This record gives sequence, C-alpha cells and structure tokens, in this order.
Amino acid sequence: MVGGERAGRPARGRARPAAGALREGSRMDSLLYARAQMGMSLAFHMIFAAAGVALPLIMVVADALWQRTGDRDYLEFSKRMAKGTAILFAVGAVSGTVLSFELGLLWPSFMGTFGEVIGLPFSLEGFAFFTEAIFLGIYLYGRDKLPPRLHLLSGALVALSGAMSAFFVILVNACMNDPVGFTMVDGRPADIDPIAAMFSPPWKHQTLHGILSCYQATAFVMTGIHALVLLRHPGSTLFRKAFAVTLVLAGVTALAQPFVGHYAAQEVGARQPAKLAAMEAHFETSARAPLLVGGLPDVERGEVDHAIEIPAGLSVLLHGDPDAVVPGLDSVPRDAWPPVTATHLAFQVMVAAGSAMALLAVVGAVLAWRRRGIPDQRAFLWAAVLASPLGIVAMEAGWFVTELGRQPWIVRGAMRTRDAVTPFPHLAAPFWMFTALYIFLGVVVVYLLVRQLRAAPLGVTGAPGGARAVGGGAADAS
Ligand code: HEM
Repeated sequence: MVGGERAGRPARGRARPAAGALREGSRMDSLLYARAQMGMSLAFHMIFAAAGVALPLIMVVADALWQRTGDRDYLEFSKRMAKGTAILFAVGAVSGTVLSFELGLLWPSFMGTFGEVIGLPFSLEGFAFFTEAIFLGIYLYGRDKLPPRLHLLSGALVALSGAMSAFFVILVNACMNDPVGFTMVDGRPADIDPIAAMFSPPWKHQTLHGILSCYQATAFVMTGIHALVLLRHPGSTLFRKAFAVTLVLAGVTALAQPFVGHYAAQEVGARQPAKLAAMEAHFETSARAPLLVGGLPDVERGEVDHAIEIPAGLSVLLHGDPDAVVPGLDSVPRDAWPPVTATHLAFQVMVAAGSAMALLAVVGAVLAWRRRGIPDQRAFLWAAVLASPLGIVAMEAGWFVTELGRQPWIVRGAMRTRDAVTPFPHLAAPFWMFTALYIFLGVVVVYLLVRQLRAAPLGVTGAPGGARAVGGGAADAS
C-alpha cells in the first residue's frame, strides 16, 4: 500500500512517493496490523474465557453429585475441574489484561470518544472478574475448611461470576453493533444514557448466543477428551461419569443453539441489514429471497458460485413468509459493505459446525435412550473425539461474523474502524511480539493440562485397574 510511483514528484531515477501518500500508506499498515493483533488476541482469549465460563459449572455439578451420592469419582472429577479452572483462569487473566491495554493503545480514538458510552458494562465486567477470582480462591483452598454446602456455594458463585463477566463484555459488543443511548454531536456522543447504551437492541440474542457457545464449545472439548480416554480404558469409572456429565451439557447446548442462532439471525435481519446481507451473500434486494448453502461469493459480479439454493428459504426463515422482501447489499452504499466473502464463509462454517454438533447430540440421545444408559459404543466415542474442536471452530467463526459483518464501522454508523486506529507507525513489532507471547502461553497451557490429565486416576470406586492414572503412573486418589 505504501507510496505508489504515481504519487511521487517527477525526478531523475525512481520517483519518490508524496508525504501524503506515505502517511495514508502507513495508516493502512497500522490499521492492518492493529486489526490483526486485536483479532489474534481476541481469538486466543476467547478460548480461555469460554473455558473460564463453563469449567466452573462442570466443577460445581460434579461437586454437587459427590455431595448427593457420596461417590468419590465425582469428588475426584470436581477436583480435576477445579485445577483446570485455576490454570485457565490465570491464562485468561493474562490475555484479558493484554486486551484491555490493546483497546486503549491500538484504538485510542474509539476509547476516547466512546469511553463514557461503554464504560458501565466494562466496569461491571471488572467487578464480575474480581468476584470470580475471590470465590475461586475460596473454592480452591476451602474444600476441607468450609462446611460442604458453603464450599459448593462458593463454586456456584465462581460459575455465576464467570458467566456475568461474559455477559457484560458481550453487552459492550452489542452496543458497538447497534449503538443507542446517545446522539452524535460534532463527532462526539452527547446526551448519554449509559443504561440504554448498555442494553442496546442486540443484547438479548448476543448474550444468550454467546454465553451458550461458551458452554457448548467447552463441553464438546471435554466430552472428546473423556471419550478418548474411554476408548483406551473402557473400564474407567471416573471417566465414564465425567463423560456422562459433559455429554449432557454438550447435547443440551448443541440442541438449543440452532434455535438461538435462528433468533439471532432474525434480530440481525431486522436491525443490521448489511451484516445479514453479507452473511447470506444476498446481493440484490428481493422478495422470495433464496437461502444459500455454501458457495463462494464473487463480489465483482454480485453472484455466488457453487451454492445450493433453497428458493424463498431466506424470506421464510427471516419472516415466515415466502413473499417477504429481504434487503440485499444493493441497499447499502458500496463503501459501507462488510467484507462479503469472509463474512459469508464464516457464517457457513458456524452453521455447518453447529448442525454437525446438533446431529451428534440427536444420535447420542437416541443411543442413550435405546441403551438406557451412557452411549459408549466405540463408533460414538470416536465421533465425540472427532467433534471435539467443532464448538471452538463455531465460536471463533461466529465471532468473525459479528465483527466482520459490522465493518467498516467500529461503532456502527458512528465511527469507522480506520478512524479509530492509533497513528503509531510501527505496529508490526508488537504484533509479532504478542504472536510469540500467545504461542508460548498456548504451549504452556496445553502442557499443564495434558500433565493434569495424565495424572488423573482412572477411577477411585474400584474400577478395573484400581487407581491407575491415565498416563499409566500411580494416581493420587486422595
Ligand atoms: C446452528 C446455527 C447457528 C446460527 C443460525 C447462528 C447465527 C448467528 C448469528 C446471526 C450471529 C451474528 C449475531 C450478531 O452479530 O448480532 C452469530 C454470532 C455468533 N455465533 Fe452463531 N449461529 C449458529 C451456531 C453457532 C454455534 C454452534 C456457535 C458456537 C458454539 C456459535 C457461536 C457464535 C458466536 C460466539 C457469535 C458471536 C457472538 C454473538 O454475536 O452472539 N453460533 N451466530
């Protein structure tokens, strides 16, 4: 992008780019690197944040089952979940802190202009985070010191405050997607109503869909890990119970998510037509709008190649009426189009992964019903292993849809992303530095979690192989 020849003053030898072109070029470089760095940080943080929301719930359910049944396998399972929660909470705290710095340093105009608008949910998110940290400390160190019910309550508060953190941070994003609660005067928000801004129109579908995706993504990973161990050690009592607990969470969320996603799509269609048109690669405003499955949009021609077309499908899905008109990208000025191909592909990936998980949930439910117990057929266990990354894939793709579909705006209709970026010119350096940091953190986390898993006993209630650990060593079954 930097300095084309045509921008330079005529001179002997190579023409030199004009200062203005250089400034514009370096601004585009900054924008590219700032977006890449922010995107990478969020993509990384999201996985730990999702686990931080869902693992405490699994930990508390296992603990409650232990208190109800007195079965020590559940106690062991809840202890393992508590250790996993602690590791992921620490990494989530580091990556979350990086993000809060990045918001101010990479997007100073955004934070400077809209700080008062989005400040309330951000502060509440900080409050929820501290609550989570306090109760996690109490839960981790209070097991033998507190009465069991009080200990369980502290675990439930960890789960609740984790979900509240996600809730508040998604409210910020909802306000960026469809800002209300202020008026723009001379490029700055005035007459700010922080409560109205916090509960901007997309808040219901975004918080519901986003928080559910945390439980779903984590439950699928955990189910896959437990299924893998069961394939190697079918007699493990602990892993059978752990598999059952996470499978129920995975199944329920996978069946609920398509309905919630459908509601989200209807809401987006009603208030963010450009995002919906990009998601569906719907170029021309039309009645009886078709639903496209797959396909590669050609933005220049305004057509989609290789898609399966369901006539009037989009009109029916959005409005329940085949004759309903659905606004296309042609209803939006060309310079306000989101990146159509990336948004459409991300949407297709999310829906495909969501459908595959829902299908697996149905198969699991049928097998469980026919067997009147845990569906532990080897083929099903393998399917659970293969499906384990799908929740994370769908979650990341969904976040791409939300963010890319809002472009070119950082706050829709109020500030463009390119006007929010820092003018600091050397953003390549922090980008590569943080990439290295995230790779390092990722490797450390995987190492610690695998170590945890290998140290886990196969069962503490008299499983074949006694308290042998997954990794083969002696287990600490205390
Ligand atoms: C199966 C059908 C699904 C449909 C129809 C659907 C629909 C949508 C729509 C319309 C959005 C954009 C919301 C907005 O920008 O306001 C979205 C975002 C998102 N989706 Fe999905 N989705 C589906 C499945 C999934 C699954 C399975 C997951 C993850 C496990 C997921 C995770 C997300 C996330 C994290 C976002 C961004 C946060 C948010 O806006 O709520 N989605 N989805």
